[in-house]
This record gives sequence, structure tokens and C-alpha cells, in this order.
Amino acid sequence: MQTSQVLERQLSSEAATTDFAVQFAQAITPFVAQGLMVYLSGELGVGKTFLTRQLLRAFGYKGVVKSPTYGLVEVYGLPIGNICHFDLYRLNTSEELEDLGFRDYCGMGCCCLVEWPSRGLGALPAADLALILRSVTEKPTARTVTLTAASMVGERVLLQLKNK
Ligand SMILES: Nc1ncnc2c1ncn2[C@@H]1O[C@H](COP(=O)(O)OP(=O)(O)OP(=O)(O)O)[C@@H](O)[C@H]1O
Ligand SMILES: [Mg+2]
Repeated sequence: MQTSQVLERQLSSEAATTDFAVQFAQAITPFVAQGLMVYLSGELGVGKTFLTRQLLRAFGYKGVVKSPTYGLVEVYGLPIGNICHFDLYRLNTSEELEDLGFRDYCGMGCCCLVEWPSRGLGALPAADLALILRSVTEKPTARTVTLTAASMVGERVLLQLKNK
């Protein structure tokens, strides 16, 4: 059963993930400019960067979306607002997070999408939304996405998504 705080969807293919990204983009649109913190969790190679890429495409970004694994962050200045894509997989210490200027990004009203938030726990600002991607046994292109709202803004985003 879905409460107002949790939403789960089956994504049977890359196309389904792309459709979900479009819906997610529409749902977060009213909140991007004021800043939003989204944690993206799930095992290696499950599709966190793929989902982010489709989300940026849905916002009209036409350039290359590369995994920020080595630089830890990529910033996209879009008409709708700033999207900051982090990948903390290679983060060693929370001081590194400070060095990245995480607070500055959050302070300037950036919509932060953070892969591997578990590596920055304690130093990361709290999430508005926690998204988890899971693979599905014996279905190589299927995923399950679970979104949990962790703030009132997060709940409003989920409400938007549920009404689609
Ligand atoms: N339904 C699906 N949704 C998303 N990606 C899918 C799906 N089916 C297959 N894929 C493929 O899974 C791969 C996901 O790779 P991606 O780099 O996005 O993973 P990741 O979660 O960001 O990994 P990492 O933790 O290493 O950063 C891509 O090659 C993508 O094409
Ligand atoms: Mg990735």
C-alpha cells in the first residue's frame, strides 16, 4: 500500500525509465529554482546516471551528460534553474565534500541529484526525496524505483507524480 510518503513504480525497460524521468522532471519543475535535495541510491550500474541523463533531457538539455564520478560534480545551468549532479562514490572524507563547495551549491538554490549519498552521510544536507533503483532478478532491463518523501516539498512532488 502506498502512503503519501512513498511511491513505487516498475520500470520494465530503458524506455520506461525515460518516461518516468519525464514525469519526475514535470513533478519537480515548481521546486527546482528554490533548491531541492534528491538522493539517488542503488547498486553499481543500476541506472542512477541514466535516469539523471533522461531527466536533464526532459528539461531540454541537449549536451553531453557524463557521469561525474571523477570530478564528483557536474553543474548544469538550465532555464529552469541549476541542476547539480554529484557522484560521491569516490568520496573519501566529509572534508572533501566541504571542499567541493556543497554548501554553496545548496545555498544558491541548486536542485542537487546525489549518487551514492551513503558516502556523504553526516556531511550531506538532508534529502527532500530519497530515490532507490533496484534491479529485477532475471530481467536485465527491468528496474523498480522507490521514492520516499523526507520533507513537505518532497511530499508535494510525490503527490504530483501520483496524480499522473
Ligand atoms: N530500465 C533501465 N533503467 C535504467 N538503466 C537501464 C535500464 N535497463 C538497462 N539499463 C542500463 O543500465 C546501465 C545503467 O548505468 P548507469 O551508469 O546509469 O548506472 P549507475 O547506477 O549510475 O552506476 P554507478 O553506481 O556506477 O554510477 C546503462 O547502461 C543503461 O543503459
Ligand atoms: Mg552513476
